[in-house]
Amino acid sequence: MKRQILERIFDKVDTIPAFPKVAFQALELLKKEDVDFRELERIIKSDPGITANFLKIVNSPAFGLPQKIDSLFKAFMFLGINQIKFIVVASVAKKYFSKDLIGYGISVEDIWFHSLACGIIAEEIAFDIGFSPAKIETVYIASILHDIGKIVLDLYTKLEIKEFQKIAREKVDWDFIQIEWLVLGVDHGLVGAHLLERWEFPKYISFAIRAHHDSDLMLQSDIASIVALSNILANMLGIGGGVDVFNYRVPENLLKNLNIEPEKIYKYLKVGLYKSLLIQKEFV
Ligand SMILES: [Fe+2]
Ligand SMILES: [Fe+2]
Repeated sequence: MKRQILERIFDKVDTIPAFPKVAFQALELLKKEDVDFRELERIIKSDPGITANFLKIVNSPAFGLPQKIDSLFKAFMFLGINQIKFIVVASVAKKYFSKDLIGYGISVEDIWFHSLACGIIAEEIAFDIGFSPAKIETVYIASILHDIGKIVLDLYTKLEIKEFQKIAREKVDWDFIQIEWLVLGVDHGLVGAHLLERWEFPKYISFAIRAHHDSDLMLQSDIASIVALSNILANMLGIGGGVDVFNYRVPENLLKNLNIEPEKIYKYLKVGLYKSLLIQKEFV
C-alpha cells in the first residue's frame, strides 16, 4: 500500500512544471561583471507572471525605494545585484505556491510568506557568516524553495488526513515529519530535493532541502544548516509553517555548527519578521 503511494508521489513530481528558463537565464546574466539591464529586462518580461510578482515585491516598503516603480529597468537601477536575484527567485516561487495546502493546514499566502521569511533570514545569516555572493545566492534559493515538496505531497496528506490526525493524537511528542514518514514513507524534504534534481539545480542545493528536517543531515553542510535554521526561526515567528508551527526550538549543535552566538538569534527573528511583513503588505 505504502509502496503504491510512494510510486504515485514520485510520478507526481514528474508532472510539476519545469523551473522557468527565464529564471535560470536571469540568474546566469546576473553573474556577469557588467550586467546588461536591458537584456535582463527583456528576459524577465517574457514571463508576465514573474514580472508582475517582481514589481509588487520591489514596491513593498521592505526595499525602501523613493518612488513607485512601474518598470523592471527602473527597478534594476535602484537595486543591488543580490536584491535582484532574491526577487527573481521569490517571484518564481510564488508561481508554484499557487493554492492552499489543505493537507498541511497552510493557506496559499502563508506558504509563500513562510518561504520568503526563510529566504530573508537565511540571507542575513549567510551574510553575517561572510559567505561569498555566489554562496549567498545558493542559500536563498535553497531556503525559498525548501518546502517545495509540500506542493507534491499535499494531495497525499489530504487523502490520508484521518490517519495523520489519528497518529498525531496517539503520538503527542511526534512532529509532522515523523508522521509523514510513517504514513507516506517519505517526507516533503526528500520529495522537494527530488524535484530540484529534476530541475537540474546543483546537488548542494537539493541536499539542503533534503536535510532541512533531518537533525543529522542538516549538520553536514553549512548551506543545509542555514536552511534548517531559517526554517526553525520562521516557524518560531509563527510565519506560515502550518500544523506544527510552535513545536520548533533552535538546536544548540546547529548554532555551534555555524559558529553563531545564541544572542544573534533575536536579530535574525527581528529582520525576518520586519521585512516579510513589509513585503506581505503589498500582497494583501
Ligand atoms: Fe519543511
Ligand atoms: Fe518550512
